[in-house]
Amino acid sequence: MKKIIIAIDGFSSCGKSTMAKELAHEIGYIYIDSGAMYRAVTLYCIQTDILKEETIDIQRLREAIGTLKVCFHFNRETDHPDVWLNDVNVEDKIRTMEVSAHVSKIAAFDFVRTAMVAQQQAMGRDKGLVMDGRDIGTVVFPHAELKIFVTASPEVRARRRYDELTAKGATVSLEEILTNIKERDYADQHRPVSPLRQADDAILLDNTHLTTAQQLEWLKEQYQQAIQ
Ligand code: CDP
Repeated sequence: MKKIIIAIDGFSSCGKSTMAKELAHEIGYIYIDSGAMYRAVTLYCIQTDILKEETIDIQRLREAIGTLKVCFHFNRETDHPDVWLNDVNVEDKIRTMEVSAHVSKIAAFDFVRTAMVAQQQAMGRDKGLVMDGRDIGTVVFPHAELKIFVTASPEVRARRRYDELTAKGATVSLEEILTNIKERDYADQHRPVSPLRQADDAILLDNTHLTTAQQLEWLKEQYQQAIQ
């Protein structure tokens, strides 16, 4: 059967990863969470004090970026790929509010994006890939056969992220999450390099009132049409 690239972009915490992951699993495609890569770079900056007290040592980050090993390994327990940073599994460490609070600043550097985009494009060489992020349909794979742009109201997105984090035992407030979501939406849409925007040929999905099961069904229909 024809293999394609499926690019899923959209605002933060709107359920892109959930549906991308499930679709990839069902159709036997590789799933790549490009946001996890920017989160891993941000974690590295925190761990090495490149990012300290809200200041970023841009020179050190520029030197380090080419040496960073950010990759994915399949986790048999969860049935999904985990992100690894320099041979360490950092899947849980990258989802903290501390990383969320700084990731959009790190992801806005052109040299960070160039390094990550090159790796993402290499992952799509053989197609059969679902990738989600902010610039997948516009920059990483402008010729992707299926492009989806997902959105939902900020309040609904904050509630979903809150439920996800508290289910994992994290202590977070809904207000803090809503503020972070709005700040990242703004930063992602207004950065000069690869800003978040809907590609002209992307299909818009507002999933404010959809369950995860409903949005997966919708996505599967889009996939079936795309491979015909
Ligand atoms: O999980 P959530 O949707 O909140 O965010 P994410 O997909 O983990 O991405 C975290 C951040 O990385 C975003 O807010 C963007 O600033 C950045 N990002 C990006 O610039 N380009 C991408 N392709 C993916 C993420």
